[in-house]
Amino acid sequence: MNQSPDTLTLALSKGRILEATLPLLASAGITLQDDPETSRKLVFETNKPGLRLLVIRASDVPTFVSYGAADIGVAGKDVLIEHGGADLYEPVDLGIAKCRLMTAGLPGAMDAAKHRPLRVATKYVETTRAHFARIGRQVEIIKLYGSMELAPIVGLADVIVDLVDTGNTLYANGLEPFDLIEDISARLVVNKAAQKMKHAQIGELVSLFGQTEAA
Ligand code: ATP
Ligand code: PRP
Ligand code: MG
Repeated sequence: MNQSPDTLTLALSKGRILEATLPLLASAGITLQDDPETSRKLVFETNKPGLRLLVIRASDVPTFVSYGAADIGVAGKDVLIEHGGADLYEPVDLGIAKCRLMTAGLPGAMDAAKHRPLRVATKYVETTRAHFARIGRQVEIIKLYGSMELAPIVGLADVIVDLVDTGNTLYANGLEPFDLIEDISARLVVNKAAQKMKHAQIGELVSLFGQTEAA
């Protein structure tokens, strides 16, 4: 996407991140001209001249920001760890969309596969690989795109690596949480070139978000 040097593009994802971020923008007087929850648009103009929003999939936010298609974005730490994240600045922990990245499964599942690699279903393939390498456990990773909790119930995997907030999804499916991999919250991420080229505009937005940072 061609970007004018005067335009600042902020990438957000539909759902939790958008729901939690729009009030932060609104508290700074920034509103959207269309409702992103109902509109089929993907680019949203705001009442702040030169600021527009892209509404994309959560896992695509780091990609848009690292290529400079968006200058700045809001992404979960889970997504950033999985992406790698070294090519992005991460100036503010917004303290929203808090949860935990955990291993989970049916009771006793971690001890089930003693003489073969543990089968782990997840959408966080790289993070899962790194976690089990760290604890020295051989795994076979099965990539899923959602509803990970189903995998142990139907025998697709021994355990899962997924996000846990209240634990309701696990308990509703007879699963239990095992080990914490990472505490998760949403972060502001900034493209490194944009940080230099659009220093003032990005600084303004970062400090706006920084002021709303949760304790
Ligand atoms: P998609 O539907 O495109 O696959 P997604 O499921 O990752 O995306 P969301 O559920 O909106 O999209 O999650 C966005 C971010 O919010 C996640 O990357 C994570 O950081 C955080 N998150 C996800 N689930 C929860 C939850 N149950 N409680 C708190 N935060 C969560
Ligand atoms: C997320 C996550 C877990 C659930 C955890 O799913 O993937 O399934 O929330 O939250 P809990 O511990 O409070 O139950 P989400 O609601 O985003 O559904 P999704 O499958 O559409 O991503
Ligand atoms: Mg989700």
